[in-house]
Amino acid sequence: MTSPSPRQVIPLKTELPSALSSAERKTIEGACARLKALPGALLPILHAVQEELGFVPKDAVPLIARQLNLSIAEVHGVVSFYHYYRQQRSGRHVVHLCRAEACQALGAVALEAHAKRSLGIDFHGTTADGAISLEPVYCLGNCALGPSMMIDEKLQGRVSAQRFDALMAQARAPVTKP
Ligand code: FES
Repeated sequence: MTSPSPRQVIPLKTELPSALSSAERKTIEGACARLKALPGALLPILHAVQEELGFVPKDAVPLIARQLNLSIAEVHGVVSFYHYYRQQRSGRHVVHLCRAEACQALGAVALEAHAKRSLGIDFHGTTADGAISLEPVYCLGNCALGPSMMIDEKLQGRVSAQRFDALMAQARAPVTKP
């Protein structure tokens, strides 16, 4: 019996039409150039792209696939499998609401319903004013002080519906310069 031939991805000869700006393209190509030698480079590259652009644009997928010699379907599969990766541009602030068990026992289900109602969006959505994006997260390591959430990089514990509204008003408030 002959052993299977090594896996080969046939690179695309033609560029797919892309809506990326030249700055976005530069960011994505830069992340690939910096990180593609790492073992399992796809996740760190996606992470870097999201960190710099706030999301992983749809048209980043063929670009990254080409750089890593992967198929578009493989890269797309990873982007859509992990909830962490946003496929749409995020709002000015990203709110991560914890949905894991310990927070659920402390009222996270009611908080989630309130958050969706008061923002008028579901998970992965962004408010009409572009201020807030809402994302689920599964444990923020703040289990004893649930329900927990994170606004951008800032962790918040014991979040009631009232406190949630106050935090959202604060996030939306214009920044006053000293
Ligand atoms: S379960 Fe919510 S922070 Fe751990």
